[in-house]
Amino acid sequence: MSFLPVTASAPGKLMLFGEHAVVYGSPCIVTAVDRRIEATVAMNATETVVVEREGHSAQNLGSVQYVQTESIDCFDTKYQFVIMALKTFWEDTQSAFGVIITTRSQFTDKEGLGSSSAVTVALMKALSEATDQGYDLDTVFRLSYATVKAVQGEDASGFDVAAATYGGTFRYQKDKKNASLQRETANMSLIVAYSGIKAKTTEYVAKVKRFKKKEPDLVNNIMEDIEKLVNQAEQAFLRQDFETAGHLMNCNHDLLHSLGVSTDVLDCLIDTCKLNGAYGAKLSGAGGGDCIISLAHPKCKKNVEDGIYKIKRFKHIKVLPVQSGAEGVRIE
Ligand code: PMV
Repeated sequence: MSFLPVTASAPGKLMLFGEHAVVYGSPCIVTAVDRRIEATVAMNATETVVVEREGHSAQNLGSVQYVQTESIDCFDTKYQFVIMALKTFWEDTQSAFGVIITTRSQFTDKEGLGSSSAVTVALMKALSEATDQGYDLDTVFRLSYATVKAVQGEDASGFDVAAATYGGTFRYQKDKKNASLQRETANMSLIVAYSGIKAKTTEYVAKVKRFKKKEPDLVNNIMEDIEKLVNQAEQAFLRQDFETAGHLMNCNHDLLHSLGVSTDVLDCLIDTCKLNGAYGAKLSGAGGGDCIISLAHPKCKKNVEDGIYKIKRFKHIKVLPVQSGAEGVRIE
């Protein structure tokens, strides 16, 4: 066990194709982005658990025994993923120890870039390193996904945990990373814009679930169509045919719209991208807000970004300069 602080970092994510359908077992395509979250672990001889988020004062969350036995609901929501990751790690290693955990983020939890999964994965890796567990990536993924499900509920597909763990761009199906598309998508020109609205993933997953219960045939057909698009998008990426991938984004967005998860601001952003010459665009994630993504010819990227900045109807819209295909979890 190391008494020197150990730091690990993990990337955020974007869903390229297949959100919502992935909850019901279909594949999706996901990418890790070059905005990271760091977690530092330092063993604490006082047998307490202290969590410090950069820019905020340190919080003593109580004795090891208290943290171990209390339900996750007793803790402030901003610490729940950290506490649950620690509890999952203690359980897996049959141990419990005092620890000071410090987190630092290159993105806010408002943009929908996967801060919860990134902090969970970074912390799991740092804990493994600090205690010489030597977890491999599949173990980091398994325990981090269990953590996220314990906080967010069983519906979470784990695509964000997979992106934070493995990095790159790849096809994902609930519980497992599939074929990598990292090499083929290295040159894609992706534009990401934040809608200015923080969406609550669980709310939109529940909304689709209710719709599916009410109209099973209709929603199952939509999910099947989304799955077909994911397969076609994978083929387009393999050919590095970003124009077709962009068109498929438009189709994917239309299906998400018919699931009832798009909004005026998301539709406005998407129309703006298309009007300014993008191949296509779609919302990314559960819907209701967060980000849109767009594919364009590299020469057209600036035009699309300028168009987004000219939108006056909605405040707080901004282009996020992020790169896709970022490296997965690593020790710093
Ligand atoms: O809202 P986000 O960015 O966390 O994405 C949610 C994607 C869903 O498919 C709707 C849910 C999931 O767990 O895959």
